[in-house]
Amino acid sequence: MAARRLRYAMIGGGPGAMIGPIHRLAARLDDRWELVAGALSSDPARAARGAVECRIAPERSHADWRALIASEAARGEDRIDAVVIVTPNHLHAAPAVAALEAGFHVICDKPIAATLSDALAIERAAHAAKRAFVLTHTYSGYPMVRMMRAMVSEGRLGTIRTIQLQYAQDWLARTIETGDNKQAAWRTDPARSGAGGALGDIGTHAYHLGGFVTGLQAEAVFSDLSAFGEGRTLDDNAHILLRYAGGAKGMMWLSQIAPGKGNQLRIGVYGSEAGVEWDQENPNQLRYTVIGAPSVTLERGGPGGLGGDATRTPAHHPEGYLEAFAQLYSDAADLIVGFDDPDASGQASMLPGIEDGIEGLRFVAGAVAAHAAERWIERTNWG
Ligand SMILES: NC(=O)c1ccc[n+]([C@@H]2O[C@H](COP(=O)([O-])OP(=O)(O)OC[C@H]3O[C@@H](n4cnc5c(N)ncnc54)[C@H](O)[C@@H]3O)[C@@H](O)[C@H]2O)c1
Repeated sequence: MAARRLRYAMIGGGPGAMIGPIHRLAARLDDRWELVAGALSSDPARAARGAVECRIAPERSHADWRALIASEAARGEDRIDAVVIVTPNHLHAAPAVAALEAGFHVICDKPIAATLSDALAIERAAHAAKRAFVLTHTYSGYPMVRMMRAMVSEGRLGTIRTIQLQYAQDWLARTIETGDNKQAAWRTDPARSGAGGALGDIGTHAYHLGGFVTGLQAEAVFSDLSAFGEGRTLDDNAHILLRYAGGAKGMMWLSQIAPGKGNQLRIGVYGSEAGVEWDQENPNQLRYTVIGAPSVTLERGGPGGLGGDATRTPAHHPEGYLEAFAQLYSDAADLIVGFDDPDASGQASMLPGIEDGIEGLRFVAGAVAAHAAERWIERTNWG
C-alpha cells in the first residue's frame, strides 16, 4: 500500500515571491506532499490572497507564522507533518526552531540562517525534538550531479586534484535594490542576508556542490571579495581559493554582476585518471574525459540508465530545476516516514541537512575573514 501523502505548511512564498512557488510545484511532482496550511506573507491581505491561490482553507491560513504553528500543533490527526520555510535568510531560524519544538519536521531553503549562532540554535532544536531538518541545496537533487558523485566515490577519476566551481549571474549588475525589487533589497542588506552577499546567496550552493560531489572537506580558504554595485556593502563578486583535505585544490568564481550570465553554475572535477564536468544550464549531460581517450558525453537516462532513480523522464526529454527540487521532496518524504517507521527509511543520506547548513555559513565566515585579513584562513577559524 502506498504511503499516505505528507501534509505541509509553508512560511513565506506568498504572491510575488520567487522560490516558494517552485517548492510548491516540486512538492507535487511525485505526489508525496500536500499543502494544507500556511503563513505565506506577513501582510494579512497577501497571505489571504496567496492562500486562496493555493487552495489553503481560510482557517489554516495565517499572516503570523507563530499563529500558524500554534494552530497546527493544536489540531488532531490532520495536522501537518512538516513546515517549509521560504522566507528571507534572517527569518529562517525563529520559525524553524518553533516548528521543531512543536514537533514538526522542517524543510528550509538555503542558507540555513543569516548567522551561525542562529544555525546552531536550529541544530540544538532539531536534536532535542528528534525531528528532521532538510536544507534545499537544489543542485544535489540533479541526477547527473548524483552520478558525478558516484563516479568520484567509485574511483573513476582517480585521486582528485582540482575542483573548479563557478556560479555567475548578472541580475545585480545594476543597483536594483534601490528600486522596488524586494529580492534584491533583502539580499544586499547584511541584517537580512547575513555576512555574505553573493557568498551567502549562491556561494553556499557552489560550496555545497563541491563537497557533495567529491566528498572532500575544505581545510582553508583565501578570498577576494568585491562590492561593485554603488553603495553596496555586501559582496556581489568573489574570487576564492580552497584547499581540500588530501591535497586537492579548489577555485571558485561567484558573481551576480557578470553581464550575460544567467544562472551559470558549473563544476569540473579533475583527478589523476579522468575529469568530469557539469553545467546547470545543460543539466542532462556530463562531459567525461579519461586521460588519453576522447571526451564522451554521458546523457541522463541513456544506455545504462544513467542518473539512476533520480530520473523521471526518458532520455533526451530534458529534466531540470523542478525535478531536482522534486527529488529533494521525495527524499525528504522518505526521511520523514523513516522517523516513524525505521524500516521505511529511504535513500535520505544524500539529502542536505543541518551540518551542511552550518558548514555553508562557516565557509561564508571563513571567506569574509580571509578577505579582511588578506591571507589564508584555516577551517578551525571559520566563524
Ligand atoms: N534553492 C534555491 O535554488 C533558492 C533560490 C532562490 C531563493 N532561495 C532561498 O529562499 C529564500 C527565499 O528567497 P526568495 O527569493 O523566494 O525571496 P522572496 O523575497 O521572493 O520571498 C520571500 C517571501 O517571504 C515572505 N515573508 C517575509 N517575511 C515573512 C514573515 N514574517 N512571515 C511570512 N512570510 C514572510 C514574503 O512576503 C515573500 O513571500 C531565501 O533564503 C533564499 O536564499 C533558494
